[in-house]
Amino acid sequence: MASNLVYVLNGPNLNLLGTREPEIYGSETLDDIAAMLDDRARELGLEVDVRQSNHEGHLVDWLHEARADGAKAVLLNAGAYTHTSIALLDAIRAIGVPVIEVHLSDPSSREAFRHVSYVGMAAVDEVKGLGAHGYVVALEKAAAL
Ligand code: DQA
Repeated sequence: MASNLVYVLNGPNLNLLGTREPEIYGSETLDDIAAMLDDRARELGLEVDVRQSNHEGHLVDWLHEARADGAKAVLLNAGAYTHTSIALLDAIRAIGVPVIEVHLSDPSSREAFRHVSYVGMAAVDEVKGLGAHGYVVALEKAAAL
């Protein structure tokens, strides 16, 4: 059991951060975010495991793995699956590991189809609209759990 371990799971299209609609998502890459998280995690006495997949089932499998690993928490930016995936909602409910929902943008102030969050129905907290820095804020929230 590794209770200082925080999974940071990223969904579809987040591998393109840095070049993907930078006016919405900013210019930091996912590697930049991982480096910021590594630095802050060290200060907080945590360890982060940052992953990205464009495939819904990988995210489900990684949520299960977070439980098997005894992770302290999961930061989850499920990208567009946030708004569609009952499988992710069920996985979050199943694992018993606290999940913090993260978004670079604020989906609730964008198109109506982004206003529903299946992830949010099971997450213990959320950070949205703060860009890349939001991941650090979410990690600080995870540290306080
Ligand atoms: C996002 C918001 C989602 O609506 C969108 O589909 C994404 C990114 C965000 O981080 O702002 O892919 O999760």
